[in-house]
Amino acid sequence: MKIVVLSTNKQLYSTQRLVESATQRGHECIVMDHTKCYVGIQQGKPSIHYKGQDITDIDAIIPRIGASVTFYGSAIVRQFEVMNVISANPSQAITRSRDKLRCMQILSGAGLGLPITGFARMTSDVDDLINMVGGAPLVIKLLEGTQGIGVVLAETKKAASSVIEAFYGLGNNILIQEYIKEAKGTDIRAFVVDGKVVGAMKRTAKEGEFRSNLHRGGTAEIVKLTRQQKETAIAAARAMGLTIAGVDMLPSSRGPLILEVNSSPGLEGIEKATNKDIAVEIIKYLEHQYEQKQSLKPIIKRKIKKESKL
Ligand SMILES: Nc1ncnc2c1ncn2[C@@H]1O[C@H](COP(=O)(O)OP(=O)(O)OP(=O)(O)O)[C@@H](O)[C@H]1O
Ligand SMILES: [Mg+2]
Repeated sequence: MKIVVLSTNKQLYSTQRLVESATQRGHECIVMDHTKCYVGIQQGKPSIHYKGQDITDIDAIIPRIGASVTFYGSAIVRQFEVMNVISANPSQAITRSRDKLRCMQILSGAGLGLPITGFARMTSDVDDLINMVGGAPLVIKLLEGTQGIGVVLAETKKAASSVIEAFYGLGNNILIQEYIKEAKGTDIRAFVVDGKVVGAMKRTAKEGEFRSNLHRGGTAEIVKLTRQQKETAIAAARAMGLTIAGVDMLPSSRGPLILEVNSSPGLEGIEKATNKDIAVEIIKYLEHQYEQKQSLKPIIKRKIKKESKL
């Protein structure tokens, strides 16, 4: 197969591991910076161009789209899809998962466990909002935050109101969330590929911190998931329409509560914590899709022939 990893940085661990894994399995694999791809849209002839070249013979892509370029990146993925190229994740699911609020709404609709979450625009509703998530302590999250930045624990109702009002005053969109104290600064990342959990790690926050993000000094170790945690992770990926997903969950007394479903989950933390080859699972999924597509080709051709006779 000819595989393209869509990534803005060739040096990133995840990008390198995907290229390495694909190459080891006998594929041709190149990295393309999606922010430098451009598209041609015309009747029956969609095209993608990169560095002045028309890109035509690609079998599969692995999107590694960063949060800051979701709109452009998913448009490029969509263009590959229109050109009948296999994608490790659908463009629509990437866009869907990037919006934290939309993600929580979808998961809630699918009946999956979540911390109670509120979203509002008016400061006059703050009191009711705080009561809705069970009062203080509570967690306030910037909708656009990542890596733990913009996630605040408000210990008292007074502190919560001040922080919420400050965020509103600055024109930020925020989520207000029940604080899950049983999690005790830990969360679980389950890496899902094609309906299976292929690796899982537990992240623990550093002393005096409630956010377990590795970027905030947290540490990661391998963990064996309970059946319920596995099922929740798989169901969350399915609800979001993602084939490849990093599902973050908080352990709680009422079972796993999902925090987020990531469409470009990093490989470094999970491969190092679990000592497993996660990259190869993604390549194997593409191979499977490719085989299916090849085996369907004669059927589709026959169908077209038959239809054209009519
Ligand atoms: N409701 C909560 N109760 C207890 N701890 C929480 C809660 N929400 C978040 N945390 C802790 O804070 C960390 C960061 O929160 P979250 O994952 O929601 O934001 P983020 O990491 O900034 O966003 P992203 O995952 O999109 O990069 C979590 O990993 C978890 O350890
Ligand atoms: Mg997170």
